[in-house]
Amino acid sequence: MVIFVVLLLFVNLGQSQDFSLLGGELTSDLPGRHAIQVAAPNVVTQERRDLQLSGFTPFHQIFSREEGVGPKFTSSSCGGCHIENGKGPLDLESKRTTGSSAVIKIGLRSSNGFPRPVRRFGNQIPLFKRSNIRKYKVELLWEKVEGRYPDGTRYSLRKPKLSFKLPLGVNPKRVVTSIRMSPPMIGMGLLESIPDETIISLSDPFDLNGDGISGRINLVPDVESGSTKVGRFGFKALHPSVRQQSAAAFFGDMGLTTSLFNNSNTEAEISDETLFRLVMYLKLAGVPRARLQNEQPIALGRELFQSIGCSDCHKLQLNTSSSNDPELDSQNILPYTDLLLHDMGKGLSDGFNEFSAKGSEWRTTPLWGLGYSVADVDRLFLHDGRARTIEEAILWHGGEASRARRNFKQLSAVERALVLEFLRSL
Ligand code: HEC
Ligand code: HEC
Repeated sequence: MVIFVVLLLFVNLGQSQDFSLLGGELTSDLPGRHAIQVAAPNVVTQERRDLQLSGFTPFHQIFSREEGVGPKFTSSSCGGCHIENGKGPLDLESKRTTGSSAVIKIGLRSSNGFPRPVRRFGNQIPLFKRSNIRKYKVELLWEKVEGRYPDGTRYSLRKPKLSFKLPLGVNPKRVVTSIRMSPPMIGMGLLESIPDETIISLSDPFDLNGDGISGRINLVPDVESGSTKVGRFGFKALHPSVRQQSAAAFFGDMGLTTSLFNNSNTEAEISDETLFRLVMYLKLAGVPRARLQNEQPIALGRELFQSIGCSDCHKLQLNTSSSNDPELDSQNILPYTDLLLHDMGKGLSDGFNEFSAKGSEWRTTPLWGLGYSVADVDRLFLHDGRARTIEEAILWHGGEASRARRNFKQLSAVERALVLEFLRSL
Protein backbone atom coordinates (compact mmCIF):
# COMPACT_ATOMS: atom_id res chain seq x y z
CA MET A 1 0.00 0.00 0.00
CA VAL A 2 2.74 2.41 0.99
CA ILE A 3 4.70 1.51 -2.14
CA PHE A 4 1.62 2.11 -4.26
CA VAL A 5 1.08 5.58 -2.79
CA VAL A 6 4.73 6.50 -3.24
CA LEU A 7 4.62 5.32 -6.84
CA LEU A 8 1.49 7.31 -7.52
CA LEU A 9 3.11 10.38 -6.04
CA PHE A 10 6.14 9.84 -8.21
CA VAL A 11 4.07 9.53 -11.36
CA ASN A 12 2.13 12.65 -10.47
CA LEU A 13 5.29 14.57 -9.83
CA GLY A 14 6.56 13.42 -13.21
CA GLN A 15 3.44 14.71 -14.89
CA SER A 16 3.49 18.00 -13.08
CA GLN A 17 6.78 19.02 -14.63
CA ASP A 18 6.27 22.42 -16.19
CA PHE A 19 7.42 22.11 -19.78
CA SER A 20 6.64 25.77 -20.44
CA LEU A 21 9.56 27.05 -18.33
CA LEU A 22 12.16 26.83 -21.10
CA GLY A 23 14.54 29.27 -19.45
CA GLY A 24 13.94 28.35 -15.80
CA GLU A 25 13.40 31.55 -13.80
CA LEU A 26 14.46 33.58 -16.83
CA THR A 27 11.28 32.44 -18.60
CA SER A 28 9.27 35.45 -19.67
CA ASP A 29 5.55 35.80 -20.36
CA LEU A 30 6.18 38.42 -22.99
CA PRO A 31 5.72 37.02 -26.49
CA GLY A 32 8.72 36.00 -28.61
CA ARG A 33 10.95 38.82 -29.65
CA HIS A 34 9.71 41.02 -26.81
CA ALA A 35 10.85 38.45 -24.26
CA ILE A 36 14.36 38.24 -25.67
CA GLN A 37 14.99 41.97 -25.77
CA VAL A 38 14.30 42.94 -22.18
CA ALA A 39 15.62 41.82 -18.79
CA ALA A 40 14.37 38.42 -17.64
CA PRO A 41 11.80 38.39 -14.78
CA ASN A 42 14.40 37.19 -12.26
CA VAL A 43 16.65 40.19 -12.92
CA VAL A 44 15.12 42.17 -10.07
CA THR A 45 17.43 44.86 -8.76
CA GLN A 46 17.35 48.22 -10.51
CA GLU A 47 21.12 48.09 -10.88
CA ARG A 48 21.06 44.79 -12.79
CA ARG A 49 18.09 45.86 -14.91
CA ASP A 50 19.90 49.08 -15.80
CA LEU A 51 23.01 47.12 -16.69
CA GLN A 52 21.03 44.87 -19.05
CA LEU A 53 19.32 47.88 -20.63
CA SER A 54 22.62 49.69 -21.13
CA GLY A 55 23.62 47.13 -23.76
CA PHE A 56 20.62 47.94 -25.94
CA THR A 57 22.35 50.85 -27.68
CA PRO A 58 25.61 49.14 -28.69
CA PHE A 59 23.61 46.15 -29.97
CA HIS A 60 21.10 48.11 -32.03
CA GLN A 61 22.99 51.24 -33.04
CA ILE A 62 24.26 51.62 -36.58
CA PHE A 63 27.98 52.29 -36.21
CA SER A 64 29.41 54.92 -38.52
CA ARG A 65 32.61 55.10 -40.45
CA GLU A 66 33.83 57.73 -37.94
CA GLU A 67 33.25 55.24 -35.15
CA GLY A 68 35.50 52.80 -36.96
CA VAL A 69 33.29 50.55 -39.11
CA GLY A 70 35.17 48.84 -41.92
CA PRO A 71 37.13 49.27 -44.09
CA LYS A 72 35.39 46.07 -45.17
CA PHE A 73 32.24 44.95 -43.43
CA THR A 74 29.12 42.85 -43.82
CA SER A 75 26.82 44.98 -41.68
CA SER A 76 27.23 48.02 -39.46
CA SER A 77 24.92 46.91 -36.66
CA CYS A 78 24.51 43.73 -34.57
CA GLY A 79 20.77 44.34 -34.63
CA GLY A 80 20.87 44.69 -38.40
CA CYS A 81 21.56 40.96 -38.60
CA HIS A 82 19.89 39.71 -35.42
CA ILE A 83 16.63 41.54 -36.14
CA GLU A 84 14.91 42.49 -32.88
CA ASN A 85 17.34 39.96 -31.34
CA GLY A 86 15.74 37.20 -33.42
CA LYS A 87 16.84 35.59 -36.66
CA GLY A 88 17.75 37.64 -39.69
CA PRO A 89 16.54 37.17 -43.25
CA LEU A 90 18.81 35.68 -45.90
CA ASP A 91 19.25 38.74 -48.05
CA LEU A 92 22.69 38.39 -49.61
CA GLU A 93 21.59 40.70 -52.39
CA SER A 94 20.52 43.45 -50.01
CA LYS A 95 21.37 46.97 -50.97
CA ARG A 96 20.63 48.32 -47.51
CA THR A 97 23.48 50.54 -46.40
CA THR A 98 23.43 48.86 -43.02
CA GLY A 99 24.51 45.71 -44.81
CA SER A 100 23.47 42.16 -45.31
CA SER A 101 22.05 40.06 -42.51
CA ALA A 102 23.79 36.81 -43.33
CA VAL A 103 27.46 35.90 -43.41
CA ILE A 104 29.36 34.10 -46.13
CA LYS A 105 32.43 32.43 -44.69
CA ILE A 106 35.15 31.69 -47.19
CA GLY A 107 38.58 30.08 -47.07
CA LEU A 108 41.18 28.00 -48.81
CA ARG A 109 41.04 24.32 -47.94
CA SER A 110 43.69 23.33 -45.42
CA SER A 111 44.50 19.84 -44.19
CA ASN A 112 43.16 20.54 -40.72
CA GLY A 113 41.84 23.32 -38.52
CA PHE A 114 40.56 26.50 -40.11
CA PRO A 115 40.45 27.22 -43.87
CA ARG A 116 43.15 29.76 -44.69
CA PRO A 117 42.20 33.38 -45.55
CA VAL A 118 41.53 34.26 -49.17
CA ARG A 119 43.39 37.20 -50.67
CA ARG A 120 41.32 40.42 -50.47
CA PHE A 121 38.47 38.64 -48.69
CA GLY A 122 39.99 37.22 -45.50
CA ASN A 123 37.70 34.60 -43.94
CA GLN A 124 34.43 36.23 -44.93
CA ILE A 125 33.13 37.84 -48.11
CA PRO A 126 32.73 41.39 -46.79
CA LEU A 127 30.04 42.58 -49.27
CA PHE A 128 30.55 46.24 -48.34
CA LYS A 129 33.52 48.57 -48.40
CA ARG A 130 34.23 51.89 -46.71
CA SER A 131 31.66 54.17 -48.22
CA ASN A 132 28.67 51.85 -47.63
CA ILE A 133 28.80 51.02 -51.31
CA ARG A 134 28.13 47.45 -52.21
CA LYS A 135 31.43 46.01 -53.17
CA TYR A 136 31.06 42.35 -53.91
CA LYS A 137 28.16 40.87 -55.75
CA VAL A 138 27.04 37.48 -54.58
CA GLU A 139 24.15 35.61 -56.07
CA LEU A 140 22.25 32.87 -54.35
CA LEU A 141 20.90 30.10 -56.57
CA TRP A 142 18.70 27.22 -55.46
CA GLU A 143 18.83 23.59 -56.49
CA LYS A 144 15.64 21.53 -56.11
CA VAL A 145 15.70 18.24 -54.20
CA GLU A 146 12.57 16.09 -54.39
CA GLY A 147 11.46 13.33 -52.05
CA ARG A 148 8.46 11.48 -50.70
CA TYR A 149 7.17 10.02 -47.46
CA PRO A 150 6.57 6.26 -47.20
CA ASP A 151 2.83 7.11 -47.31
CA GLY A 152 3.33 8.62 -50.75
CA THR A 153 3.13 12.31 -49.79
CA ARG A 154 5.61 14.26 -51.89
CA TYR A 155 7.89 17.06 -50.73
CA SER A 156 10.35 19.41 -52.38
CA LEU A 157 13.46 20.82 -50.70
CA ARG A 158 16.00 23.38 -51.91
CA LYS A 159 19.77 23.57 -51.57
CA PRO A 160 21.78 26.82 -51.94
CA LYS A 161 24.53 27.46 -54.42
CA LEU A 162 26.60 30.63 -54.40
CA SER A 163 27.74 32.47 -57.47
CA PHE A 164 30.40 35.19 -57.17
CA LYS A 165 33.69 36.35 -58.66
CA LEU A 166 36.89 35.33 -56.90
CA PRO A 167 39.84 37.73 -56.68
CA LEU A 168 42.31 37.19 -59.52
CA GLY A 169 44.76 34.36 -59.00
CA VAL A 170 42.68 32.44 -56.44
CA ASN A 171 42.21 28.81 -57.44
CA PRO A 172 38.47 28.08 -57.26
CA LYS A 173 39.14 24.39 -56.64
CA ARG A 174 40.68 25.21 -53.26
CA VAL A 175 37.93 27.55 -52.13
CA VAL A 176 35.35 26.50 -49.55
CA THR A 177 32.38 28.65 -48.55
CA SER A 178 29.65 28.47 -45.95
CA ILE A 179 26.48 30.53 -45.79
CA ARG A 180 25.36 31.33 -42.26
CA MET A 181 22.01 32.74 -41.25
CA SER A 182 21.93 35.05 -38.25
CA PRO A 183 20.64 32.97 -35.32
CA PRO A 184 18.32 34.34 -32.61
CA MET A 185 19.72 35.65 -29.29
CA ILE A 186 17.81 33.34 -26.94
CA GLY A 187 19.14 32.32 -23.53
CA MET A 188 22.74 33.18 -24.39
CA GLY A 189 23.75 33.51 -20.74
CA LEU A 190 22.09 30.20 -19.85
CA LEU A 191 23.87 28.35 -22.65
CA GLU A 192 27.14 29.84 -21.43
CA SER A 193 26.37 28.68 -17.88
CA ILE A 194 25.90 25.00 -18.67
CA PRO A 195 28.99 23.48 -17.01
CA ASP A 196 31.69 22.08 -19.31
CA GLU A 197 31.39 18.78 -17.45
CA THR A 198 27.73 18.46 -18.44
CA ILE A 199 28.51 18.95 -22.13
CA ILE A 200 31.48 16.58 -21.94
CA SER A 201 29.38 13.96 -20.15
CA LEU A 202 26.79 14.10 -22.95
CA SER A 203 29.44 13.58 -25.63
CA ASP A 204 30.12 10.09 -26.91
CA PRO A 205 32.77 10.61 -29.61
CA PHE A 206 33.26 6.89 -30.30
CA ASP A 207 29.59 6.01 -29.92
CA LEU A 208 30.39 3.58 -27.13
CA ASN A 209 26.71 3.21 -26.27
CA GLY A 210 26.05 2.14 -29.87
CA ASP A 211 22.97 4.30 -30.45
CA GLY A 212 24.33 5.67 -33.75
CA ILE A 213 24.78 9.11 -32.23
CA SER A 214 28.23 10.24 -31.22
CA GLY A 215 28.27 13.94 -30.38
CA ARG A 216 31.62 15.64 -30.00
CA ILE A 217 32.79 18.81 -28.35
CA ASN A 218 34.58 21.45 -30.39
CA LEU A 219 37.73 22.44 -28.50
CA VAL A 220 38.39 26.05 -29.45
CA PRO A 221 40.84 28.78 -28.48
CA ASP A 222 39.85 31.15 -25.71
CA VAL A 223 41.64 34.18 -27.10
CA GLU A 224 41.90 36.07 -23.81
CA SER A 225 43.46 33.31 -21.72
CA GLY A 226 45.26 31.57 -24.57
CA SER A 227 43.83 28.26 -23.35
CA THR A 228 41.50 25.81 -25.06
CA LYS A 229 37.83 25.71 -24.08
CA VAL A 230 34.60 23.92 -24.95
CA GLY A 231 33.01 25.76 -27.90
CA ARG A 232 29.32 26.68 -27.55
CA PHE A 233 28.38 29.55 -29.85
CA GLY A 234 27.98 29.70 -33.62
CA PHE A 235 26.65 26.90 -35.85
CA LYS A 236 29.84 24.90 -35.34
CA ALA A 237 30.37 25.85 -31.68
CA LEU A 238 33.27 28.08 -32.65
CA HIS A 239 33.40 30.40 -29.64
CA PRO A 240 33.44 29.52 -25.93
CA SER A 241 31.68 32.65 -24.61
CA VAL A 242 29.17 35.34 -25.52
CA ARG A 243 32.00 37.85 -24.99
CA GLN A 244 34.33 36.25 -27.52
CA GLN A 245 31.51 35.62 -30.00
CA SER A 246 30.47 39.29 -29.76
CA ALA A 247 34.03 40.61 -30.09
CA ALA A 248 34.54 38.34 -33.10
CA ALA A 249 31.35 39.75 -34.64
CA PHE A 250 32.55 43.31 -34.12
CA PHE A 251 35.81 42.42 -35.81
CA GLY A 252 34.78 40.03 -38.57
CA ASP A 253 31.30 41.27 -39.46
CA MET A 254 31.63 44.99 -38.76
CA GLY A 255 35.34 45.82 -38.92
CA LEU A 256 35.49 47.16 -35.34
CA THR A 257 38.35 46.30 -32.98
CA THR A 258 38.12 45.28 -29.31
CA SER A 259 40.76 44.28 -26.76
CA LEU A 260 40.19 40.67 -27.90
CA PHE A 261 40.60 41.21 -31.64
CA ASN A 262 42.78 44.11 -32.71
CA ASN A 263 44.99 44.09 -35.78
CA SER A 264 46.52 47.51 -35.08
CA ASN A 265 48.57 49.09 -32.32
CA THR A 266 45.96 51.73 -31.66
CA GLU A 267 43.37 51.69 -28.90
CA ALA A 268 40.41 49.41 -29.55
CA GLU A 269 37.44 51.07 -31.26
CA ILE A 270 35.02 49.36 -28.87
CA SER A 271 35.93 49.73 -25.19
CA ASP A 272 35.82 46.84 -22.70
CA GLU A 273 33.06 48.72 -20.88
CA THR A 274 30.86 48.79 -24.00
CA LEU A 275 31.58 45.15 -24.77
CA PHE A 276 30.66 44.21 -21.18
CA ARG A 277 27.32 46.05 -21.40
CA LEU A 278 26.55 44.43 -24.74
CA VAL A 279 27.26 40.97 -23.35
CA MET A 280 25.10 41.57 -20.26
CA TYR A 281 22.28 42.80 -22.52
CA LEU A 282 22.26 39.40 -24.19
CA LYS A 283 22.97 37.29 -21.11
CA LEU A 284 20.28 38.74 -18.82
CA ALA A 285 17.48 38.82 -21.40
CA GLY A 286 14.44 36.58 -21.03
CA VAL A 287 13.50 33.33 -22.75
CA PRO A 288 9.94 33.12 -24.12
CA ARG A 289 7.62 30.68 -22.34
CA ALA A 290 6.50 27.66 -24.36
CA ARG A 291 2.76 27.67 -25.01
CA LEU A 292 -0.04 25.17 -24.35
CA GLN A 293 2.32 22.55 -22.92
CA ASN A 294 -0.43 20.74 -21.02
CA GLU A 295 -2.78 20.48 -23.99
CA GLN A 296 -3.18 16.95 -25.27
CA PRO A 297 -1.90 17.45 -28.87
CA ILE A 298 1.21 19.28 -27.67
CA ALA A 299 1.94 16.66 -25.00
CA LEU A 300 1.50 13.90 -27.58
CA GLY A 301 3.78 15.73 -30.01
CA ARG A 302 6.42 16.05 -27.30
CA GLU A 303 6.19 12.33 -26.51
CA LEU A 304 6.65 11.50 -30.19
CA PHE A 305 9.59 13.94 -30.40
CA GLN A 306 11.24 11.98 -27.61
CA SER A 307 10.29 8.49 -28.74
CA ILE A 308 11.53 8.89 -32.35
CA GLY A 309 14.94 10.04 -31.10
CA CYS A 310 14.89 13.82 -31.62
CA SER A 311 15.71 14.41 -27.97
CA ASP A 312 18.85 12.29 -28.24
CA CYS A 313 20.45 15.52 -29.49
CA HIS A 314 17.83 18.19 -28.79
CA LYS A 315 18.07 17.53 -25.01
CA LEU A 316 15.24 18.77 -22.91
CA GLN A 317 16.64 19.13 -19.43
CA LEU A 318 19.92 20.73 -18.42
CA ASN A 319 21.11 22.62 -15.33
CA THR A 320 23.25 25.70 -15.20
CA SER A 321 25.81 27.00 -12.76
CA SER A 322 27.34 30.45 -12.77
CA SER A 323 29.63 32.04 -10.26
CA ASN A 324 29.45 35.51 -11.81
CA ASP A 325 25.77 36.09 -12.39
CA PRO A 326 23.31 34.99 -9.68
CA GLU A 327 20.39 35.13 -12.16
CA LEU A 328 22.02 32.46 -14.31
CA ASP A 329 22.97 30.14 -11.46
CA SER A 330 21.22 26.80 -10.76
CA GLN A 331 18.54 27.12 -13.41
CA ASN A 332 16.68 24.07 -14.72
CA ILE A 333 16.32 24.80 -18.38
CA LEU A 334 14.81 23.17 -21.48
CA PRO A 335 17.01 24.43 -24.32
CA TYR A 336 16.47 21.42 -26.62
CA THR A 337 20.18 21.12 -27.36
CA ASP A 338 23.24 19.25 -26.09
CA LEU A 339 25.57 21.93 -27.53
CA LEU A 340 27.52 19.08 -29.18
CA LEU A 341 28.68 18.68 -32.75
CA HIS A 342 26.97 15.99 -34.78
CA ASP A 343 27.76 14.63 -38.20
CA MET A 344 24.60 15.59 -40.07
CA GLY A 345 25.53 13.85 -43.32
CA LYS A 346 26.59 14.88 -46.79
CA GLY A 347 23.46 16.84 -47.63
CA LEU A 348 24.17 19.47 -44.97
CA SER A 349 27.98 19.44 -45.31
CA ASP A 350 29.67 22.68 -46.32
CA GLY A 351 33.23 21.31 -46.34
CA PHE A 352 34.20 24.18 -44.05
CA ASN A 353 36.17 23.07 -40.98
CA GLU A 354 36.13 25.19 -37.84
CA PHE A 355 38.75 23.83 -35.44
CA SER A 356 37.74 20.25 -34.71
CA ALA A 357 34.32 20.67 -36.38
CA LYS A 358 34.32 19.10 -39.83
CA GLY A 359 32.29 20.10 -42.88
CA SER A 360 29.37 17.84 -42.04
CA GLU A 361 29.39 18.59 -38.31
CA TRP A 362 26.99 21.10 -36.77
CA ARG A 363 26.09 22.06 -33.23
CA THR A 364 22.60 20.90 -32.26
CA THR A 365 20.49 24.03 -32.71
CA PRO A 366 18.59 24.98 -29.53
CA LEU A 367 14.88 24.79 -30.30
CA TRP A 368 13.58 27.10 -27.57
CA GLY A 369 11.72 30.01 -29.15
CA LEU A 370 11.39 28.06 -32.43
CA GLY A 371 7.65 28.70 -32.68
CA TYR A 372 8.17 32.43 -32.71
CA SER A 373 10.28 32.26 -35.85
CA VAL A 374 7.64 30.74 -38.11
CA ALA A 375 5.20 33.62 -38.35
CA ASP A 376 7.13 35.86 -40.69
CA VAL A 377 7.95 35.13 -44.31
CA ASP A 378 11.62 35.82 -43.78
CA ARG A 379 12.11 33.30 -41.04
CA LEU A 380 14.09 30.37 -42.37
CA PHE A 381 15.75 27.34 -40.77
CA LEU A 382 19.08 25.50 -40.65
CA HIS A 383 22.51 27.11 -40.79
CA ASP A 384 22.08 28.46 -44.32
CA GLY A 385 18.36 29.11 -44.29
CA ARG A 386 17.63 26.49 -46.92
CA ALA A 387 14.63 25.16 -44.99
CA ARG A 388 11.49 27.25 -45.49
CA THR A 389 9.53 25.32 -42.88
CA ILE A 390 10.29 23.31 -39.76
CA GLU A 391 9.27 20.20 -41.67
CA GLU A 392 11.91 20.87 -44.34
CA ALA A 393 14.53 21.33 -41.61
CA ILE A 394 13.71 17.85 -40.26
CA LEU A 395 13.84 16.30 -43.73
CA TRP A 396 17.41 17.57 -44.20
CA HIS A 397 18.62 15.69 -41.09
CA GLY A 398 21.11 12.99 -42.12
CA GLY A 399 24.25 11.32 -40.74
CA GLU A 400 23.82 10.68 -37.03
CA ALA A 401 20.25 11.97 -37.28
CA SER A 402 19.26 9.61 -40.13
CA ARG A 403 17.42 7.25 -37.84
CA ALA A 404 15.41 10.06 -36.25
CA ARG A 405 14.53 11.41 -39.70
CA ARG A 406 13.51 7.93 -40.88
CA ASN A 407 11.34 7.51 -37.79
CA PHE A 408 9.72 10.89 -38.47
CA LYS A 409 9.02 9.98 -42.08
CA GLN A 410 7.43 6.70 -41.02
CA LEU A 411 4.94 8.41 -38.74
CA SER A 412 1.39 8.82 -40.00
CA ALA A 413 0.45 12.23 -41.39
CA VAL A 414 -1.49 12.93 -38.18
CA GLU A 415 1.48 12.05 -35.97
CA ARG A 416 3.83 14.20 -38.07
CA ALA A 417 1.43 17.09 -37.64
CA LEU A 418 1.51 16.57 -33.86
CA VAL A 419 5.33 16.75 -33.82
CA LEU A 420 5.24 19.94 -35.87
CA GLU A 421 2.55 21.45 -33.68
CA PHE A 422 4.66 20.69 -30.62
CA LEU A 423 7.71 22.34 -32.22
CA ARG A 424 5.66 25.43 -33.03
CA SER A 425 4.61 25.64 -29.38
CA LEU A 426 8.21 26.18 -28.25
C1 HEC B 1 26.51 40.30 -40.77
C2 HEC B 1 25.58 39.76 -39.84
C3 HEC B 1 25.93 39.73 -38.38
C4 HEC B 1 26.33 40.78 -37.57
C5 HEC B 1 26.59 42.22 -37.94
C6 HEC B 1 26.43 40.22 -36.24
N1 HEC B 1 26.13 38.91 -36.24
FE1 HEC B 1 26.07 37.69 -34.63
N2 HEC B 1 25.86 36.09 -35.83
C7 HEC B 1 25.74 36.14 -37.20
C8 HEC B 1 25.90 34.81 -37.74
C9 HEC B 1 25.83 34.44 -39.23
C10 HEC B 1 26.12 33.94 -36.66
C11 HEC B 1 26.45 32.45 -36.72
C12 HEC B 1 27.97 32.40 -36.81
C13 HEC B 1 28.60 31.05 -36.98
O1 HEC B 1 27.95 30.10 -37.34
O2 HEC B 1 29.81 30.95 -36.73
C14 HEC B 1 26.07 34.78 -35.46
C15 HEC B 1 26.19 34.32 -34.15
C16 HEC B 1 26.09 35.11 -33.03
C17 HEC B 1 26.00 34.62 -31.66
C18 HEC B 1 25.95 33.16 -31.24
C19 HEC B 1 24.55 32.64 -31.29
C20 HEC B 1 24.41 31.17 -31.04
O3 HEC B 1 23.28 30.68 -30.94
O4 HEC B 1 25.41 30.47 -30.96
C21 HEC B 1 25.97 35.72 -30.85
C22 HEC B 1 25.90 35.74 -29.33
C23 HEC B 1 26.04 36.88 -31.69
N3 HEC B 1 26.09 36.47 -33.01
C24 HEC B 1 26.08 38.19 -31.24
C25 HEC B 1 26.38 39.27 -32.07
C26 HEC B 1 26.75 40.60 -31.58
C27 HEC B 1 26.83 41.00 -30.14
C28 HEC B 1 26.97 41.36 -32.69
C29 HEC B 1 27.46 42.79 -32.75
C30 HEC B 1 28.73 43.04 -32.11
C31 HEC B 1 26.72 40.53 -33.84
N4 HEC B 1 26.37 39.27 -33.43
C32 HEC B 1 26.80 40.98 -35.13
C33 HEC B 1 25.52 37.27 -37.95
C34 HEC B 1 25.83 38.55 -37.53
C1 HEC C 1 22.12 13.61 -34.27
C2 HEC C 1 21.59 14.80 -33.60
C3 HEC C 1 20.21 15.26 -33.99
C4 HEC C 1 19.02 14.56 -33.98
C5 HEC C 1 18.79 13.11 -33.63
C6 HEC C 1 18.01 15.51 -34.40
N1 HEC C 1 18.55 16.75 -34.64
FE1 HEC C 1 17.59 18.42 -35.21
N2 HEC C 1 19.33 19.37 -35.48
C7 HEC C 1 20.58 18.84 -35.21
C8 HEC C 1 21.60 19.73 -35.71
C9 HEC C 1 23.09 19.50 -35.60
C10 HEC C 1 20.93 20.80 -36.32
C11 HEC C 1 21.57 21.99 -37.07
C12 HEC C 1 21.76 21.59 -38.53
C13 HEC C 1 22.07 22.74 -39.48
O1 HEC C 1 21.83 23.90 -39.14
O2 HEC C 1 22.54 22.47 -40.59
C14 HEC C 1 19.51 20.57 -36.12
C15 HEC C 1 18.50 21.43 -36.53
C16 HEC C 1 17.15 21.23 -36.30
C17 HEC C 1 16.09 22.17 -36.61
C18 HEC C 1 16.28 23.56 -37.22
C19 HEC C 1 16.29 24.62 -36.17
C20 HEC C 1 16.55 26.00 -36.70
O3 HEC C 1 16.14 26.97 -36.03
O4 HEC C 1 17.19 26.15 -37.74
C21 HEC C 1 14.91 21.59 -36.26
C22 HEC C 1 13.52 22.19 -36.39
C23 HEC C 1 15.21 20.28 -35.74
N3 HEC C 1 16.58 20.11 -35.76
C24 HEC C 1 14.28 19.37 -35.30
C25 HEC C 1 14.57 18.02 -35.08
C26 HEC C 1 13.57 16.97 -34.96
C27 HEC C 1 12.06 17.19 -34.99
C28 HEC C 1 14.24 15.80 -34.79
C29 HEC C 1 13.67 14.40 -34.72
C30 HEC C 1 12.99 13.94 -35.92
C31 HEC C 1 15.66 16.11 -34.78
N4 HEC C 1 15.81 17.46 -34.97
C32 HEC C 1 16.66 15.19 -34.56
C33 HEC C 1 20.82 17.64 -34.57
C34 HEC C 1 19.90 16.64 -34.41
